[in-house]
Amino acid sequence: MADPIYLDHAATTPVRAEVLEAMLPFFGPRFGNPSSVHRWGRDARTALDEARERVAHCLGASADEICFTSGGTEADNIAILGTWRARRAEGRRAIVATPIEHKAVLEAVHHATHEGAEERLCAMTADGVVDESKFAETLADDTAIASVMWVNNEIGTIQPIAALASMAKNAGALFHTDAVQAFGKIDIDARAIPFDVLTISGHKIGAPKGIGAVFIRRGTIIEPLFHGGAQDRGRRPGTENVAAVIGFARAAELAVAEREQECAHLAALRTRLEELILARVPDAVIHGCGAAHRAPHITNISVPGVDSESMLMALDLRGIGCSAGSACQSGSVSPSHVLHAIGVSPDLAGAAIRMSIGSLTTEAAVDRVAEVFSALVAKARGMAQVH
Ligand SMILES: Cc1ncc(COP(=O)(O)O)c(C=O)c1O
Repeated sequence: MADPIYLDHAATTPVRAEVLEAMLPFFGPRFGNPSSVHRWGRDARTALDEARERVAHCLGASADEICFTSGGTEADNIAILGTWRARRAEGRRAIVATPIEHKAVLEAVHHATHEGAEERLCAMTADGVVDESKFAETLADDTAIASVMWVNNEIGTIQPIAALASMAKNAGALFHTDAVQAFGKIDIDARAIPFDVLTISGHKIGAPKGIGAVFIRRGTIIEPLFHGGAQDRGRRPGTENVAAVIGFARAAELAVAEREQECAHLAALRTRLEELILARVPDAVIHGCGAAHRAPHITNISVPGVDSESMLMALDLRGIGCSAGSACQSGSVSPSHVLHAIGVSPDLAGAAIRMSIGSLTTEAAVDRVAEVFSALVAKARGMAQVH
C-alpha cells in the first residue's frame, strides 16, 4: 500500500523535531520547579520567563500579558468565564458570540448563562463570515464580552477581526478572539488590533498537546478559574508545564518566522486539491467563502448523496486520514453546528469531509487524495470499482 497520508492538521500536528529537541532537557537535568528558590528552581524559572517573552514577542505582546494554559479549550474558558465573572457586577449581561465558534467557547458562554449572563449569537452570512451590521446590532449597549474566532476550524473562514474588535470596543465590550487556527497562518499583532483577550494552542503548530496560552491585555481583569497558587500571576495556578512551555515557545517562533512561506505552500496545495476534486466531481460543494478569505490549510467538501462517515472509513482504509467537521467533537459524527449555522442542508452537512493540509504535505499526496476521493465517490454512486 502507498504511504499513509495525514490530512487532518486542523485536528493536530506532529511535534516538530526542533520542538522536541528544545523540550528534552526539561525532562532530564533541567527538571526543576520554577517556584523553588534553589538553583534547579531558578534554572526552570529563567527558562520559563524567557519562553514567555518569546511567545509574547510572536503576538506583539508583553510577557506579563501571556498566561500559559493546558491548551485552547482551557484558554477559551478563561477568556469567557474569567472575563465574565470579573465584569458581571458592572451590570452588562450579554455575551455575544458567533454560532460557528468552537465548542470550548460556545459551551463556556452557555455555562455563563447559569451565572446570569445572556447568551446572544450573531447571524452569519452563508459564506461563513460574520455579518458586520448584524454584529453591531447584536452588541447593543449591554454586552460584557464579544467573542469571535479568527479562523474557523471546520471551514477555514477568516473573520474581519480588526473591524469586529473595534466595534466591540466602541460598544464598551471586551473583545476575545479564539486564534487557535489562525496562529501561524495570519499575522497576529496585539499592537495593531484592539482585542483584549486572545487564545492559542500548541498542538496546532507543531508543539505537543496540552499546552496553550491566553493573551490578556494589560489592565484587563479576569477572575481565575482555578485556585491554590500564585503561578502565572494567580491567573492560572498550578506548577507550570515547563517542558511544554519551552516547546510551545520554539514552535511559536518557527510558525511566525515561516508563516509567509508556509501559507504559500499550503494555499497552493489547497487550491490544487480543490481543483482536482472539482474537475472529477463537478457537483462537489466547497463550504464557506472563496479561497481568498479562507485560511490556507482547510478545505471542507461535500459530495451530494455521499455520506461522510462511510467516506471517512473508506479513505482511512486506503491510508488517508481526514475528518468529518471538527475532530475535537468526533468519535460522534454528529451533524456540524458550523455548517448548520451557515445554512447548509442536513443532507449536505452529513456529507462534509474536512481535509487540512500541513507543512509536510506534498503535491503527490494531494494528487493521490484527489484520485482516491473521486474514485470513492464514483464507487459510492455505483459507477466504478476502486482498488
Ligand atoms: C478553533 C479552536 N479552538 C479551540 C480548540 C481547542 O484547543 P485544544 O485542543 O488545545 O484544547 C480547537 C481545537 O481543535 C480549535 O480548533
